[in-house]
Amino acid sequence: MAKAIVAYESKYGNTKLAAEIIVEGMNQVSGTGAMLTELNDVDLTQIGEFDIVLVGSPNHMGGATRSIRKFIDKLGELKLENKQTAVFDTYLGGDFEKAVKKMEKQIGEKAPGLKLISPGLSIRVDGMKGPITDGELPKCKEFGIRIATLMKE
Ligand SMILES: Cc1cc2nc3c(=O)[nH]c(=O)nc-3n(C[C@H](O)[C@H](O)[C@H](O)COP(=O)(O)O)c2cc1C
Repeated sequence: MAKAIVAYESKYGNTKLAAEIIVEGMNQVSGTGAMLTELNDVDLTQIGEFDIVLVGSPNHMGGATRSIRKFIDKLGELKLENKQTAVFDTYLGGDFEKAVKKMEKQIGEKAPGLKLISPGLSIRVDGMKGPITDGELPKCKEFGIRIATLMKE
């Protein structure tokens, strides 16, 4: 079975909810197993067991949070090979895909053994603390289903 870990950071719970729905979508696809893990609970020694590592962050000042950036650097130190990745962010406005693009760039530079399985997903929130804007959550579900389907190919 193809295994995925979905690691996220979330200050107010919106990126957590997006991550939960992504995992729900992934686990709808048979033959794949996705595990949701808050960033602080990620055991780096276990990362090698997963075929795909998804990373989610709120957009903080036009990029991923400092902890997520550090996490991506640590993924690079693991020298993973033949693994896949995809990223997602939540943002307030005007910064559509900005954190996603920066995370993808950082992964490409620091952890090149992680290949992008899909372009990232950017999810809008209505205010600093959310909630997630109407119509955005279904995108999380579709993203999860798409990634899990690609994982099996
Ligand atoms: C310190 C800080 C900086 C932020 N900077 C931006 C920003 O530059 N652009 C943006 O669209 N949203 C920005 N936001 C809003 C966050 O993207 C929003 O709070 C987040 O999506 C909520 O996700 P969470 O509930 O998972 O923390 C910022 C929020 C915080 C707390």
